[in-house]
Amino acid sequence: MNFLKKSIVTKLWLAMVLLVLVITWTTGMVQSNIIKKVYYKQQTDSILRQGNDIAAAMSSGASREKITLLSQMTHTNIMLVDPEGFILECHGMGMNMSSTGISILDHHDGLITLADFEKVLAGERVLKSGANDIIGENVLSVLVPVTTGENTTGAIIVSHSIAAIEGQLLEYQSIILNVGIGGIILATFLSLLFSRSLSRPLIQMNRVARALARGDYNRKVVFESQDEIGVLASSLNTLSGELQEKIATLERMDQTRKDFVAGVSHELRTPLTIIQGYAEALKDNVAESEEDRRDCIEGIVEETDRLKRLVFDLLDLRRIESGQESIELTEFDMTPVLLKAAEKMGVFIEQKGIALDLAISEELPPVLANPDRLQQILFNLLENAVRYTPTGGTVRVNTAVLSGNVKVSVTDSGPGIPADQQEFIWEKFYKVDKSRARREGGGTGLGLAIVKRLAEQMGGLVYVESAPGQGTTFSFTLRTGVEKT
Ligand SMILES: Nc1ncnc2c1ncn2[C@@H]1O[C@H](COP(=O)(O)OP(=O)(O)OP(=O)(O)O)[C@@H](O)[C@H]1O
Ligand SMILES: [Mg+2]
Repeated sequence: MNFLKKSIVTKLWLAMVLLVLVITWTTGMVQSNIIKKVYYKQQTDSILRQGNDIAAAMSSGASREKITLLSQMTHTNIMLVDPEGFILECHGMGMNMSSTGISILDHHDGLITLADFEKVLAGERVLKSGANDIIGENVLSVLVPVTTGENTTGAIIVSHSIAAIEGQLLEYQSIILNVGIGGIILATFLSLLFSRSLSRPLIQMNRVARALARGDYNRKVVFESQDEIGVLASSLNTLSGELQEKIATLERMDQTRKDFVAGVSHELRTPLTIIQGYAEALKDNVAESEEDRRDCIEGIVEETDRLKRLVFDLLDLRRIESGQESIELTEFDMTPVLLKAAEKMGVFIEQKGIALDLAISEELPPVLANPDRLQQILFNLLENAVRYTPTGGTVRVNTAVLSGNVKVSVTDSGPGIPADQQEFIWEKFYKVDKSRARREGGGTGLGLAIVKRLAEQMGGLVYVESAPGQGTTFSFTLRTGVEKT
């Protein structure tokens, strides 16, 4: 029975063959029974009528010669027997005897019994079917009493061959048998055909599933049908697509995490190395003069400060990104915040000899934002502008009122950012020119990442417009308060 478990073809074939067999066998049986019944009924009716007629004729004293004629006309065998059972006349179906002296009870053994005959003598009609020894055929016989007045003076036996119907039934049964064999052949053919169309997509799906297990998500099941198998194939394709997407996301996340760890360790290593250098110079008395020693200490303080900023920025970013701490939004006038940020930058601007131009619109509508976070954004942008703009340059702060938004821009006359790098500057640790960033007192590459996330959390957007040598404009939008929209 193992082969049954293994192949759909066999299962299908067996089911179909069984079906064909059951259907042909039952229809065959039912039909031949019906045919038999109808035929017997016809024959019975016919010979009963015949028997009645002849018996009636005999009862009313018709001559015995008529029996010969009648048997010839009806292709039946007609016998006339006396009350003792002796055959007086026997004609038809190859017989032609008169006053034989043969007892029907001797020769119809099994077909017509004494009990039957006694019933006839008692005035009943008896119907029998079976082998008739005298005629030598299977027959259907009817026994009808012949009466004279009140007395039964004999019996008429009319017999009809049933060989013909049996032959026909046999023929019919052989037809049914042939139909059955034909059905089995057709079933075999159909089951092969079906199971192939059934198993082909299954085999294909199996291949795709194995490919999935191997991590190959590009394989798809090609299917046309809309049946359950088609649905399964489509589900498998969807699954593979979703897995592919999920894994791509996971890989991207993993890469981001790796980049982040690499970025953090890199940003930590540089100041630590520098601090170590200064500290060792102090320890080993390499820095001999008082001035050298102060330089070392200043360097250590500076790098420590940078480290502290890095750690704070990282913590800040993590808080913003995790969404743990939602930024509380209030409605306020942003002009004082802009002025305060500019003021804070004042020292650095002066130091570097940069001109600051504040072009703040007089009628700024109140914004819906967080003042501290806005200040942080402004400070980061101004810090960049001042840091990357050479001495003698200008930094401009602009505001513009749009529908439902206020746009703040910080423009500098610095070196600009190449177009192909502009999309990356918002990423953590990304620096356009790594060596320059540090040389110019540059930071860790977290400033703009923080700006973008803060602006977006307050419902705004960030933009950069720049070209090498043409300066840079960083902008962000904030939503205006409800009343003035
Ligand atoms: N105004 C600007 N002009 C030219 N390049 C800029 C300007 N602002 C930023 N960049 C470039 O974009 C990079 C990313 O800026 P970001 O503010 O994120 O980092 P950072 O200034 O290097 O460090 P941090 O702000 O964390 O101290 C900078 O390293 C710099 O190369
Ligand atoms: Mg910066």
